[in-house]
Amino acid sequence: MNIILLGPPGAGKGTQARILVETTGFVQLSTGDMLRAAVAAGTEVGRKAKAVMEAGQLVSDDIVIGVVSDRLDEPDTRAGVIFDGFPRTAAQAEALDRLLAEKGLTLDAAISMEVDDELLVDRVSGRYICAACGEGYHDRYKKPAQEGVCDACGGTEFNRRADDNAETVRARLVAYHADTAPLIDYYTGTGKLKTVDGMAEIDEVTRAIRRALGPG
Ligand code: AP5
Repeated sequence: MNIILLGPPGAGKGTQARILVETTGFVQLSTGDMLRAAVAAGTEVGRKAKAVMEAGQLVSDDIVIGVVSDRLDEPDTRAGVIFDGFPRTAAQAEALDRLLAEKGLTLDAAISMEVDDELLVDRVSGRYICAACGEGYHDRYKKPAQEGVCDACGGTEFNRRADDNAETVRARLVAYHADTAPLIDYYTGTGKLKTVDGMAEIDEVTRAIRRALGPG
């Protein structure tokens, strides 16, 4: 099964993708994580993306589509892919249709996670991430069972993302409403759109996504 998690910054795409990976065996394809890895590694893609990401703007379609195309060539993606943060523009959505068709794959659903903008700034500015495994936490909504120790891997170092400050989150929201929200209409038109309430608690959102995906 290949699914898109569509939603604004802080909607819970990464949180739900990681939960689904554990229970389905699908792979998470997060363009944000891939671009951050490229920035950290100092690759050509990373050098081009760094300033754009820090400003909360969208990295160019050519770069992102290239990164996704390469990732889809890896054999583990045949188990199923959860697209997290991709596509984000009409050009990316059309490119994804093309890439999937070329590889004989189909898109099963685009899950739109709906959250009010005011809550998103709070969610994103309270987020921190395990430095070792990338598990995400929140100062209030999702704390590790033991303070300072990652539930997933036992790591004790945590990071906050460079773009998780209130000013950059607002720029990311502007980009979302201008370029990404129109994809809701695009996937409604293809009959693939499912909508879930992203304001509910994390476990309830997971259950709603499972219901939206149906049995199997
Ligand atoms: P990216 O990394 O994709 O960031 P984003 O879309 O802004 O989304 P986030 O990762 O901030 O949020 P999320 O929805 O995953 O929320 P999370 O689960 O962490 O992109 C970053 C940048 O990279 C972009 O700005 C752009 O520059 C570039 N980029 C990436 N993809 C691109 C593309 N396709 N094209 C062009 N440029 C691209 O949750 C947030 C917090 O809330 C966490 O602390 C979590 O614990 C908490 N939380 C989650 N769910 C709930 C809940 N239900 N209740 C309470 N708390 C919750």
